[in-house]
Amino acid sequence: MERIVVVGAGHMGSVIVHGLLDGLPHLEVVIVEPSAQRRASLDSRAEVAAAYEPRPGDLLVLAIPPQALESFADGLPPKACADATVVSIMAGVRLETLASTLGTGAVLRAMPNLAARVGQSMTVVCPGPRVPPEAVQRTERALSVIGRVLAVEDESLLDAATAVAGSGPALVAYLAQSFTDFARGAGFDAPDAAVLTSQVLRGTAEVLAEPGVTPESLYREASTPHGTTARGIATLREHRVGESVRAALEATAERAGELAG
Ligand SMILES: NC(=O)c1ccc[n+]([C@@H]2O[C@H](COP(=O)([O-])OP(=O)(O)OC[C@H]3O[C@@H](n4cnc5c(N)ncnc54)[C@H](OP(=O)(O)O)[C@@H]3O)[C@@H](O)[C@H]2O)c1
Repeated sequence: MERIVVVGAGHMGSVIVHGLLDGLPHLEVVIVEPSAQRRASLDSRAEVAAAYEPRPGDLLVLAIPPQALESFADGLPPKACADATVVSIMAGVRLETLASTLGTGAVLRAMPNLAARVGQSMTVVCPGPRVPPEAVQRTERALSVIGRVLAVEDESLLDAATAVAGSGPALVAYLAQSFTDFARGAGFDAPDAAVLTSQVLRGTAEVLAEPGVTPESLYREASTPHGTTARGIATLREHRVGESVRAALEATAERAGELAG
């Protein structure tokens, strides 16, 4: 039976495991977690282990902090990853580092985001040069349980993907806070202000996903000349909000590059 082993039962690892158990129930799913307390609280449908015991053909998903990679690799038996396909979701750990630390060229990087917990991640995947197409497809299938998957060949795109997709929900949430604050200030209670904001984001996201719709076409369509939205957009322009958001994305991507060394 096809086996997927997820290492690390933190926020992301446990979401991926739940997604796999619900979305691909025919697979054998193992979760490796050193903490006995965390192991005890895991989904009982998954096999749980304190350490990785390799089996040829494993898809090994590393959902551990980047600084834990060395110690994870040090604890492995010799050639443990030689017959596995390794997918790392660790921010800023390059394919070259993964390959040399784990002793295999069959490595992929994936950058999910926290919308994975509602099955709406935008995950960008970059396979190493020695990963066969069927292993890429297998990885895409596995990660599709947490949302949409986009594969890229150029690893340098992952820094931008970390900004737009990885940090995207947090950056959008920061902007959404202003909507909630404004609604609260105008007299809406907290639950109504939250519903107003989240429903506007949800509706906007769905319209943007329609064929042929772009952010610009949407805001132009909604702006009657001299109307309310036009005045709001003009104020955003005056305050250079577009430039500020671009600067934030550039800074986030730059930080992703720094972390990767
Ligand atoms: N959270 C996000 O939104 C997000 C988005 C994209 C990418 N990522 C990446 O996903 C990875 C995990 O993030 P997270 O937010 O899920 O972190 P987290 O909640 O801290 O989870 C990390 C887990 O890995 C376990 N762990 C540490 N060393 C291990 C080892 N040697 N073997 C097995 N398990 C080990 C930790 O156990 P202990 O607590 O017992 O040490 C913990 O359960 C990170 O590399 C991060 O860069 C996260």
